[in-house]
Amino acid sequence: MVQPSSSHGPAPLESRRPAAPLAGAIRVPGDKSISHRALMLGALAAGRTEISGLLEGEDVLATAAALNALGAHAARVGDGKWAVDGVGVGGLAEPDDLLDLGNSGTSARLLLGILATHPLTAFVTGDASLRRRPMGRVTEPLGRFGAQFLTRDGARLPLAVTGAHRPIPVEYRLPVPSAQVKSAVLLAGLNTPGETTVVEPQATRDHTERMLRHFGGTVATEPAEGGGLRITVHGFPELTAAPIIVPGDISSAAFALVAALIVPGSEVTVEGVGINPLRAGLLDCLRDMGADIALLNEREEGGEPVADLRARAGALTGADIPAERAPKMIDEYPILAMAAACAQGRTVMRGLAELRVKESDRLAAIAAGLGDCGVRVAVDGDDLVVEGDGRPPQRGAMIAARLDHRIAMAFLVLGLAANEAVRVDDGRPIATSFPDFVPLVNRLGGAVTAAA
Ligand code: S3P
Repeated sequence: MVQPSSSHGPAPLESRRPAAPLAGAIRVPGDKSISHRALMLGALAAGRTEISGLLEGEDVLATAAALNALGAHAARVGDGKWAVDGVGVGGLAEPDDLLDLGNSGTSARLLLGILATHPLTAFVTGDASLRRRPMGRVTEPLGRFGAQFLTRDGARLPLAVTGAHRPIPVEYRLPVPSAQVKSAVLLAGLNTPGETTVVEPQATRDHTERMLRHFGGTVATEPAEGGGLRITVHGFPELTAAPIIVPGDISSAAFALVAALIVPGSEVTVEGVGINPLRAGLLDCLRDMGADIALLNEREEGGEPVADLRARAGALTGADIPAERAPKMIDEYPILAMAAACAQGRTVMRGLAELRVKESDRLAAIAAGLGDCGVRVAVDGDDLVVEGDGRPPQRGAMIAARLDHRIAMAFLVLGLAANEAVRVDDGRPIATSFPDFVPLVNRLGGAVTAAA
């Protein structure tokens, strides 16, 4: 079993076309977005929140460690089972050391929202990838509550935040469609008198809103004038601990599904996957490309829609993916691009400016990696264009993962179909979101191994 370990040097991985098709049923780890929010809102609720199915990846563990440093008590009580003893809204305490959030943008941005209306000072940092990512998109609206920030040039981490002593409620229109920014503002609104409102021109994932309601908070969502949504929270809610079942992460399931589609003869089922309509845009795209994907056993668990997803290999064709779909699948473009590379014809993925500020510049990383595998690919403004000839790539390559888990996993999936091995220079970032990726893919019949 290959387990990338973050304590040693780079852990190169390689994948090859397996001798037989992929087959079987798996579960993927819990949803990353929901896991972060379960810990954070559990920490702000009164009482003990019991969570099952929590993603125990490095990003979520960074959130748990930060909350513990802030005086809440989040502890592992079993496999994926965690108990959080909350301190109540406004009850967090000043941490006596740096909060290091590793690779996790969600931890950083959502926690900054919470900290912005606590009267304390905290120092926040992260790894080289997170320290490059823009934080101005949260420090700007959070400053309007009265929080003060001292940041590096370009509003980068490390930064210091002093939360507002007397927070002022805010109405904020999102300049970019970002669930992280929306959530940061809504979370800041919890320890603020009156009503805090976010207007989003395009709907983004609504896990924060759903979970706030689950804990007894009031969140009003209504159509905004001129389109989009207007979301309002009331300050000082009495959040009460409530059990949470975290569904499987569709962003992780995506790798197994696309692997099944592009390795001839395969059939794979991923069980218990969250299919929140604001997350499931990839399924629409793959269907537009002619993929055979079935939603089985649809149900609701813990306030989120869930299904078993079955994918069967078959010919894919290029498709035109509209920009409006991006917020519903923003993390799935790397793996969609791998499907496009194996499809017949041109796939145009439009409106991907936000991909430039993810764990890496994903537009550049996808284009460079596919190009090295001999695929015809271009970046045209904010659009990504992939021209497939209905066969998997003829070449393999050594791909730079750029501290980006999804770039690493996407290219390892491509290697399961390509004519030559695909290597990734460092598999360690995979542990941020999907620690068992390699053994799970191999359990389906994949051939991912440590590379020399
Ligand atoms: C997330 C929102 C998205 C996504 C990230 C998780 C969240 O980021 O890329 O992986 O949990 O709210 P943006 O909101 O910045 O687009």
